[in-house]
Amino acid sequence: MTQEKTGLAQKELVHLLLRTFAVLKIGKVYDFGNQIVQDQFTQLYSALKGALETEGEIVLRVRQNAILVNGVRVKFDYSNYHIFKSLCADFQTKEIAAISFSPEMQEDELQRFMRILLRKDLPSKGACDQVIEAMDRERIDHILVEKIAPVELNVSREKSAVRMYFAGIHLLKEAFEKQKQGASVNFNLMKRWMQSIFNHILDDESFVYGLTNIKNHDDYTLNHSINVCILAVALGRRLGLTREELLDLGISAFLHDVGKLDVPKEILDKPSQLTGEERAVVERHVQHGAEKLIELKSARRLPLRAVQVALEHHLKADMSEYPRYLRKSTSNIFSKIVKIVDYFDAITTPRVYRPQALTREEALNDMREKSGDEFNPTFLRAFASMIGAYPVGSLVVLDSGEIGIVFEANPHAAFQLRPEVKLIADSTGRMVDGEVVDLSDIEVETGKFRRTIVRCLNPDKCGIRVADYFLARAA
Ligand SMILES: [Fe+2]
Ligand SMILES: [Fe+2]
Repeated sequence: MTQEKTGLAQKELVHLLLRTFAVLKIGKVYDFGNQIVQDQFTQLYSALKGALETEGEIVLRVRQNAILVNGVRVKFDYSNYHIFKSLCADFQTKEIAAISFSPEMQEDELQRFMRILLRKDLPSKGACDQVIEAMDRERIDHILVEKIAPVELNVSREKSAVRMYFAGIHLLKEAFEKQKQGASVNFNLMKRWMQSIFNHILDDESFVYGLTNIKNHDDYTLNHSINVCILAVALGRRLGLTREELLDLGISAFLHDVGKLDVPKEILDKPSQLTGEERAVVERHVQHGAEKLIELKSARRLPLRAVQVALEHHLKADMSEYPRYLRKSTSNIFSKIVKIVDYFDAITTPRVYRPQALTREEALNDMREKSGDEFNPTFLRAFASMIGAYPVGSLVVLDSGEIGIVFEANPHAAFQLRPEVKLIADSTGRMVDGEVVDLSDIEVETGKFRRTIVRCLNPDKCGIRVADYFLARAA
């Protein structure tokens, strides 16, 4: 299955929704144990299982005017339009945005899930929260329900993405603390968060990507982990990973530095060079991370590859650096992706021992020099083209003398040097709350581009906090 595509024909998609509709409709009238409902349920289960076999995962998503199965809009005609209407209404009153089914789903799990959905005592407000709680309690692992994001309840897309960003920091902090106390970590919650961030990336990648300019908020490792997660998913998308793989990649990237928990803050934030012993302590975070995740692996939903990413994310493409592998000759694909985005986020973040971070452009140049030795060349090329010549968040001087921040990449490769820029200073150097201009705009009279980027500036040196401009968009 490729992302957002399905091999299922429209007829099969309608059939799947018809089976879902039938169980929900008849289950409202009769008790779930009743043979009529059970017959319908059996048909739904076999339809779903068949679809899962070819698709790998099935995601039913309801949008205002459409139902999508794995990103493909289901087309209804006059004869089955009532199914569409009824399912939409049902999802919306329960505040459910999507339901995903994984291939490992058992019949019994689907039974218990449908029972929860059909519960008569579900409140008219907050039904989805109750459904999710009940599913957690019942340990329904292979079905995930996603709540309608605030964005669909009249909150702007940007605001909702910002909320998700900070929710991620909070979530990871809580998970780290729980792990320290030996309590179990709620992976369902993490996976649901991951799905929301993923949907935001699909909706408006530039904006979510702009949020990775938020640096050193609260705690470096937490903030860095969210950025690495967003960048990894964005890169994985470019590389054509499936939705399921991207979700696993996101979680793996999110947890890649979990071993840093054991590294004392004095070492992590030491302004001077580390001693040999201190360096060894830092390097051990990869083993510790992997061990922690193995312990957690008994927990549900943690992808196995998360363990490898924790262990391998500092490993160079030529297999030098730590950890030393005796037999293995290559790291796994997730580790290679995380290696690139981890390095990029780290060197573009100011730290106590490196107060001047590299600009995004400088970072890319530095990384290109290490292509092949340190980074997988193909993945690095994809990353460089994703970031663009002027990555979102770059501070740029224009030939008009104005200064601006790159807000949106130009989707056409030929116009990579002409992104959309938010003007923040006029030609006299006075700070302004300017408009967002499109650098591919041409002056009609002269036939020339209105504005062109001359060079990049280092925001830290200019005392400009790029992230604030992205956050302001969500205000
Ligand atoms: Fe690390
Ligand atoms: Fe890292």
